[in-house]
Amino acid sequence: MSDRTYYIETYGCQMNDHDSEKMAAMLEGIGLKKVSSAEAADVVVINTCSIREKAEHKVYSSLGKLRALKKRNPGMVTVVAGCVAQQEQARLLKRTRHLDAVVGTHSISELPGLVERITETGDRIASVDFTPDVESLHFPAPRKGPSPVCSYVTIMQGCSNFCTYCVVPHTRGPEQSRDQEEIVREVEGLVERGVREITLLGQNVNAYGKDLSDGNSFARLLTGLDRIEGLTRIRFTTSHPRDLDDSLVQRMADLESVCEHIHLPLQSGSDRILAAMNRGYTLAQYLEKIARLRETVPHAAITADMIVGFPGETDQDFDETISALEQIRFDQIFSFKFSARPGTAARRLPEQIPEEVKAHRLATVHSVQEHITRQYHDRAEGTHAEILVEGIRERSGQPYGRTRSNKIVNLDSSDSVDVGDLVPVEITKGLKHSLLGKALDPAEQ
Ligand code: SAH
Ligand code: SF4
Ligand code: F3S
Repeated sequence: MSDRTYYIETYGCQMNDHDSEKMAAMLEGIGLKKVSSAEAADVVVINTCSIREKAEHKVYSSLGKLRALKKRNPGMVTVVAGCVAQQEQARLLKRTRHLDAVVGTHSISELPGLVERITETGDRIASVDFTPDVESLHFPAPRKGPSPVCSYVTIMQGCSNFCTYCVVPHTRGPEQSRDQEEIVREVEGLVERGVREITLLGQNVNAYGKDLSDGNSFARLLTGLDRIEGLTRIRFTTSHPRDLDDSLVQRMADLESVCEHIHLPLQSGSDRILAAMNRGYTLAQYLEKIARLRETVPHAAITADMIVGFPGETDQDFDETISALEQIRFDQIFSFKFSARPGTAARRLPEQIPEEVKAHRLATVHSVQEHITRQYHDRAEGTHAEILVEGIRERSGQPYGRTRSNKIVNLDSSDSVDVGDLVPVEITKGLKHSLLGKALDPAEQ
């Protein structure tokens, strides 16, 4: 029993990363040991993402690779979990003879039981019910997240927004917030285990509490978490512009541990396209919100997601996106070509944009933003910031961490700092994606 092994391959967002962490802890709970390749594993889980077509394709290519492994080791248990599992359900089993189980987004706590059953009986099973997976929601954040001193904490599941391009409401179900006291207890436990920074996760994180009847809100949750002694930094992602209210902005200014960064996807600079996307705000409303944010939290970094080539997007709409980027000057953005997804309203819209046009628009967005990000990085040279040391780069020996505004800083390898230290640094150089820095002597600050 105890020498059985597992391997988990993860795609998609931080939610999926965090779900994989939970699945790993659950498999370890039944005595499995982690290995670093599918070849060496008795149980292989592919935790999948369906956000764009390309993400879904990766799943099929991973599944293809498993076929040969399963042939060599017929006792191997193969599992697909995550958003493609939820979307495709039992169809995946039909299509893929060497797949043993499909585990939906609300069924991850069933994974250990399924693995045991499949091992004993050889059954092939799809568990994709959409009833809330209370056990997994309440399963305590198991490992240390991206670094031993940082951890993710999922505070809500699902999304009820139904942006017309997006699969998430279909694959993750409606918004469901966790109980505030339970979250606070979980974070206290993490802090006792050495965590100093948490990232609160939700597809629409600042809508936290709207589905609860106890009057709790995201702003109140932040206040509760800020009181925890030993917790130095609180981050959260992803926020929806429509749900960004004054109480949250004020908490960002007032609460010491809440970092000055917000990821606030704009998606498009054209009101016509924003309406067609069902985003629930106009560009003017978005601009008003970030003006208020910048006024109240002067050093706040703002990042966003953008989609180009949504059906019906004209050159004029696209120009409005470019002007918005130039006007807002985000610190960083993630930009994507629109991808038609199963079950979404935008898939059925006429006027789908040709691939070459999408590719050209994406390249334009990249170059406009690259220039802006680079200017921020160049201007940071010579300034001081505080970083939380998250780890040491394996190759170069450089300690690294992030500023409160979420910029990655690589320190000098001669800087003697430890993981978990809060270090005042001087930024010595701005690069394309990151900054170089040097730890300051406390006396120099
Ligand atoms: N809940 C977050 C993030 C959702 S997924 C939000 O509301 O912003 C992350 C990003 O993927 C989205 O912000 C969007 O920019 C992009 N995305 C989602 N569906 C997409 C699709 N069908 N095609 C291209 N990009 C998409
Ligand atoms: Fe998708 Fe929109 Fe929900 Fe974000 S808010 S997860 S883009 S439906
Ligand atoms: Fe992908 Fe599902 Fe996350 S579609 S982005 S893994 S919620």
